[in-house]
Amino acid sequence: MCGIVGYTGKATALSPVLEGLRRLEYRGYDSAGIALAVTQGEPLWIEKRAGKLGNLESTLTTVPDAHSGIGHTRWATHGGPTDRNAHPHLDNEGKLALIHNGIIENYVELREELEKRGHTFKSETDTESVVHLLSDARKKHGGDLAAAMREVCSQLRGSFTLLAIHSDEPGRIVGARRNSPLVVGVGDGENFLASDVSAFIAHTKHALELGQDEVVDITATNIVITNLEGDILPQKAYEISWDASAAERGGFEHFMLKEIYEQPKAVADTLIGRTAGLDPEITAGINLEGISKVVIIACGTAFHAGLVGKYAIEKWANISVDVELASEYRYREPSVDGNTLVIPISQSGETMDTLMAMRYARSKGARVFAVCNTNGSTIPRESDAVLYTHAGPEIAVASTKAFLTQLIAMYLIALHLGTVRGSLTSAEHDEIVGHLAELPSKIEQVLETVEPLRALTRQFKEAASMLFLGRHVGFPTALEGALKLKELAYMHAEGFAGGELKHGPIALIDQGTPVVAVMPAFGSLLAEKMASNVQEVKARGAIIIAIGDGDLPSADHMIRIPATHPFLEPVLAVVPLQVIAYEMAIARGNDVDQPRNLAKSVTVE
Ligand code: F6R
Repeated sequence: MCGIVGYTGKATALSPVLEGLRRLEYRGYDSAGIALAVTQGEPLWIEKRAGKLGNLESTLTTVPDAHSGIGHTRWATHGGPTDRNAHPHLDNEGKLALIHNGIIENYVELREELEKRGHTFKSETDTESVVHLLSDARKKHGGDLAAAMREVCSQLRGSFTLLAIHSDEPGRIVGARRNSPLVVGVGDGENFLASDVSAFIAHTKHALELGQDEVVDITATNIVITNLEGDILPQKAYEISWDASAAERGGFEHFMLKEIYEQPKAVADTLIGRTAGLDPEITAGINLEGISKVVIIACGTAFHAGLVGKYAIEKWANISVDVELASEYRYREPSVDGNTLVIPISQSGETMDTLMAMRYARSKGARVFAVCNTNGSTIPRESDAVLYTHAGPEIAVASTKAFLTQLIAMYLIALHLGTVRGSLTSAEHDEIVGHLAELPSKIEQVLETVEPLRALTRQFKEAASMLFLGRHVGFPTALEGALKLKELAYMHAEGFAGGELKHGPIALIDQGTPVVAVMPAFGSLLAEKMASNVQEVKARGAIIIAIGDGDLPSADHMIRIPATHPFLEPVLAVVPLQVIAYEMAIARGNDVDQPRNLAKSVTVE
């Protein structure tokens, strides 16, 4: 939810800290702040501002030279997005600064206690309690910031990534994490701490994972990781496989458009080496035999990928599948046992609800096979097996290429389960694989419709609402189209199963209501059913934009996509829906890459 970066090393700290914040701004963008350790023993230099990072940057005209600092870009939880509530927060002497991502659940009681002890609070945040607590603990531990951090973490409830810096030791930054992301970037004479690797990818590709309840203590040349008891832990190193250019806009007007155009490659990269069967290295940790049911847990767009996965797994692997919103699943004590296969789907690998739902299932003995795009994040780390999607970094808040690769991952898992369970013949398997292999070039063909589709979309910019219809796997596609439009165009949008129309939603249709029909493969029984649904809404005044692999005479506008296997159609049909949402956001003057009220990675409940 918030973006966090820390730098200590040979460079002037402002530059890597600001650069990291620019890369992390997708995580939250309602205020930003920086603290630099300029002179040993003197108060820290600090600047923070409500609004996007640009607001902060415009104030940074005379910044003193410093070689270490921390920076934060916020998505507000406790306390509105004001200058005062922006991070970093300082202790009463102004020498200790702290930034935080997550929620401190016991902050009220901590605050009361700290106020009794004479601490003065300046903000309404949960975070400020921690900086005062840390200040007291540091004094108690003779100035040892890492020891203080360990003590403080054991007193906190909730989720957090914390970074702290004290001017008595200007080159030292101490971090900690629980249920919230933090990675270490290992440089040459400089080290980094950040919410994700994109913050420091331009400087180093060497990273270290941090586990749950671990404290990391860095200087320019040294990194020490401990648990909360203070035992030194071995370092888990990994190499980042993408480079800085992947996290740049590369000439595109917005990250979202760039990411839409990256979809053929993302799909190809996710398929590579996997169509003949999943690598035994992927499945080594999990026994997929004797499973009695599959439960897919996810949120938002990833949930829609899970719905498509249900159709494929039930058909190809002949096993019953439930798809659950993680936030609902985790609190209703569902029945789950050792014969349940749980598939959490998450781009970030850090979504709190998905993580907690998965932990619940694991505690009941379920086998967990994650689908994730972020190497080393918490969800894959806590799973028995993981199928990584290879979408690369997704910076725009609205998910596009990650969704397509999640769909691919679901097809690959469905094929694998079908093979393990003997429910899929090799001819069926090969036919599907043949279609999968053609998808990257077919997405390229769909991308050729982008410009005319953008022009068409602008015609509907004043519409009060837009509806999306689909059947079979076209239904989750319709849901995804509606979600994209809501989050980007701030416009009423809903997705419906075509067959449900007559049970209520058709009352929404008015003269001129734009309705997007995701058509099943032309010539199929379901295509005929959808054609009837389209007639029903058209007769009530709707304007029909149809997406399909043939021509629908009743459509006012037809967007052609190449024919493919019926189950794979969402991979192609969703691309025009992404473009509609993208263009509608621009037409309505909205911020495409950073829509209001949202953040990319939802690491709070
Ligand atoms: C919508 C979107 C969100 C995410 C959801 C889950 O465009 O991006 O709905 O899909 O927050 O996030 P992950 O996949 O990181 O768990």
